[in-house]
Amino acid sequence: MPRLELQARAKLNLTLDVLDRRPDGYHNMRMIMQSVDLGDKITLETRPTGGLTVHTNMKFLPNDERNLAAQAALRFAAQTGKRWDGLHINVQKNIPVCAGMAGGSSDAAAVLRGLNELTGAGLDAEALAGIGAGVGSDVPYCLMGGTALAEGRGERLTPLPPLPACHIVICKPRFPVATPKLFERLRGRKLRCRPDTDGARRALEEGDLPGVARRMYNVFEGVLQPRQEREVASIKHLLVNCGALGATMSGTGPTVFGLFNVEQQALAAAEALAVQYRDVFLTRPV
Ligand code: C5P
Repeated sequence: MPRLELQARAKLNLTLDVLDRRPDGYHNMRMIMQSVDLGDKITLETRPTGGLTVHTNMKFLPNDERNLAAQAALRFAAQTGKRWDGLHINVQKNIPVCAGMAGGSSDAAAVLRGLNELTGAGLDAEALAGIGAGVGSDVPYCLMGGTALAEGRGERLTPLPPLPACHIVICKPRFPVATPKLFERLRGRKLRCRPDTDGARRALEEGDLPGVARRMYNVFEGVLQPRQEREVASIKHLLVNCGALGATMSGTGPTVFGLFNVEQQALAAAEALAVQYRDVFLTRPV
């Protein structure tokens, strides 16, 4: 049976700014995205019968059309006219769920890439990104990966020079975030702090890791509940005290990460966080 295995990488936001609300209800963003060497494994398998089926190793994730991987497959079929009697998608999750790391979007992107190959549809990058944007705002970036400036809803992408080699410690606190609510809280607020995305971009062009790290910031940090804000701040402090060059929250959170030059310092930070948190990862940019 034709079978394909794909990597679906997590993303982090080195910077995240929200500019304004659009007539379609979405917000214009300006953010630098970075993919990391932490990912889900997606397996696509065509079968003689059975329709579309999805399985994940997380009991609480839906196995039906609410799963972004299934949505991607359905949109791909609708757009290309390609049909299969049976398609099974297996999603082995390693990326924390509802974390601000685009795990679901990355799974959807992997399904689109995989189906394009399995079916021989031969869609170009732009056509795939167009289908992906219908599944979620981060899917076009997830199709591309690497270091990129994302604007508009997140679908206007400009590749940037890669983040210099470094060690990244990721920690997901346990509090839940509701993405639409966080966008709502941003509206009408005078933001005290905004990321220096242009400065971070210049630092990337100069290969200046500390220059990137010290400009990292995410405007959603400013609209968390006070207790959540304190928890994010305490993780950032721990990372910086262990030697991180900079630390910030990713996406709408709650994941926090720090960039390190020195592996031993990153290891020490990860060990210290693992005392308190289950979802702690040591990874690198890819
Ligand atoms: O596109 P996606 O499904 O990932 O977006 C989830 C929610 O986040 C949207 O329903 C919207 O409330 C908010 N959003 C937004 N502006 C963006 C991206 C997301 O308002 N650029």
